[in-house]
Amino acid sequence: MGCNIAIDGPAGAGKSTIARKVAKELSFIYVDTGAMYRAMAYYLLKNHVTGEDSKEIEEKCQGAEISICYENGEQQVLLGEENVTSYLRTEEVGKMASVSSANGKVREKLLSLQRNLAAQNNVVMDGRDIGTTILPNADVKIYLTASADTRAQRRYQELTQKGESCDLEEIKRDIIARDERDMNREVSPLKQAEDAVLVDSSCMGIEEVTEEIIRIYREKVRS
Ligand code: DC
Repeated sequence: MGCNIAIDGPAGAGKSTIARKVAKELSFIYVDTGAMYRAMAYYLLKNHVTGEDSKEIEEKCQGAEISICYENGEQQVLLGEENVTSYLRTEEVGKMASVSSANGKVREKLLSLQRNLAAQNNVVMDGRDIGTTILPNADVKIYLTASADTRAQRRYQELTQKGESCDLEEIKRDIIARDERDMNREVSPLKQAEDAVLVDSSCMGIEEVTEEIIRIYREKVRS
């Protein structure tokens, strides 16, 4: 069994940036489970699934062959033989991922992939249910959050820096809607595990959050 750090939290709290940095610092691998759900969403969209019919999602998701590998330390997601990593960060795929990830069959399909990675490697794994469902015995559990305003502001800056036009209020509405779906779904809803440490990054920078998580890890490992 590898050493496992689970980082859960809502969209836009900075999980992937922080988890990647923590993993690098500790020479662990970073496992981005959101990218796996996005790959499934991409597959479903390609197969003309709209997301309105949960039976259709259940049936079609069975055909997706999702795996991951690492290139220069960066996680790559494969759909069959195809590397789909660069297609996963669009709004369309994100919205579909939020809908399809609520489906129990989709979650079942990705569970063993995630658990096997954690069993064989030292991992920092981020997602929504890592500390509660996937790795209930993780060595360290972090619940990383930030206010909806902060998260919307960060996303707005990210998009405008890329030259994309966007509306702050619309981004905030989207974030709140996604929180609602992720927190209120029946299967594996997003919630803080009882033994997770809460880190609110609203008023913290990336370095500060990274250091705080490494401090929590070192303290746990020492005890
Ligand atoms: O973190 P992200 O935005 O890449 O995740 C995409 C979607 O997948 C998001 O709506 C929540 C869902 N997800 C999930 O349900 N469980 C996970 N472990 C990771 C992501």
